[in-house]
Amino acid sequence: MAQIIYPKIDLVEEIEKMKKLRSAIILSHNYQIPEVQDLSDFVGDSLELALETEKSDNKLIIFCGVHFMAETLSILAPQKKILLPDLDAGCSLASSINVEQLQEWKRKHPNSIVISYINTSAAVKAESDICCTSTNAVKIVESIPANKEILFLPDLFLGAYVEKITSRSMRIWPGECHVHVQLTAQKINELRESQPNAEFLIHPECGCVSNTMYNLAENNISAKKTKILSTGGMIKYAKSSTAKDFIVATETGILYPLRKENPTKTFYPAQKDAVCEYMKMINVDKVYKSLNELIYEVKVPKKIAEKARKPILKMLEIV
Ligand code: 13P
Ligand code: SF4
Repeated sequence: MAQIIYPKIDLVEEIEKMKKLRSAIILSHNYQIPEVQDLSDFVGDSLELALETEKSDNKLIIFCGVHFMAETLSILAPQKKILLPDLDAGCSLASSINVEQLQEWKRKHPNSIVISYINTSAAVKAESDICCTSTNAVKIVESIPANKEILFLPDLFLGAYVEKITSRSMRIWPGECHVHVQLTAQKINELRESQPNAEFLIHPECGCVSNTMYNLAENNISAKKTKILSTGGMIKYAKSSTAKDFIVATETGILYPLRKENPTKTFYPAQKDAVCEYMKMINVDKVYKSLNELIYEVKVPKKIAEKARKPILKMLEIV
């Protein structure tokens, strides 16, 4: 019997139709694969994605990013259905502290203020006083009265960066992201010598951040050519800069939106294999399946969501 060949469906077209039918929107983080970014209604950093969710009228959100980010959307917009096309999309940094560890840390320092980076689970946020992202960490720390001890978690490089900028000493949890830790000071310094005219865009989670801050403070490197920015901040800065060449120290997914929005400029990855496997778990097939079958919902339990909402809203009041 002749084999039946079914016509191949155009998934992107089907996603478009289904999105309208279900009145859904697709939101993606800057590290998502290009095909997923291209079919998204909005692409941004973790703070921009949270704000976009609050702003949108749509009740169904297909979120292409990692699990803790989907939880943040569910906390901020509990009336909306948040679908994550792959539930295994985790985050090594968010996993570096759990709620029991935080409770124990708080017991040891009972009068402290807990500042949690947005890369944390909902349960950890629920035990925190205020959240921060890579965009606003400095402002958040500056908003805490000087006589208060701060427990900053979970990223040690972001913590060291904030300490240096604010001249405020904090207790910092020794967590790190397995991707950004590879972006060492040695690597950045070598690149600086081989590319003297390039500007450096560095994510505050990188292993090179403390050393970069030291070099900036000592005037060993040009502050004009070195920017420590969130992924969204990198996109805005690259557009406004007159430089032609940029070395980008973060996950390589960011190169796609940078190159797309700045076709006359050249972007080099500081490390070609700085790839977050969690961010690459989502693809067009999974987005289609998620929209079609309404899977996989990320819903933070009401009690935890209510507690976790407070530190996020507190952060949003400040920035
Ligand atoms: P941004 O908020 O800067 O996009 O960072 C999120 C993240 O997970 C970085 O690895
Ligand atoms: Fe988490 Fe690092 Fe991946 Fe960002 S790059 S999502 S911090 S594991």
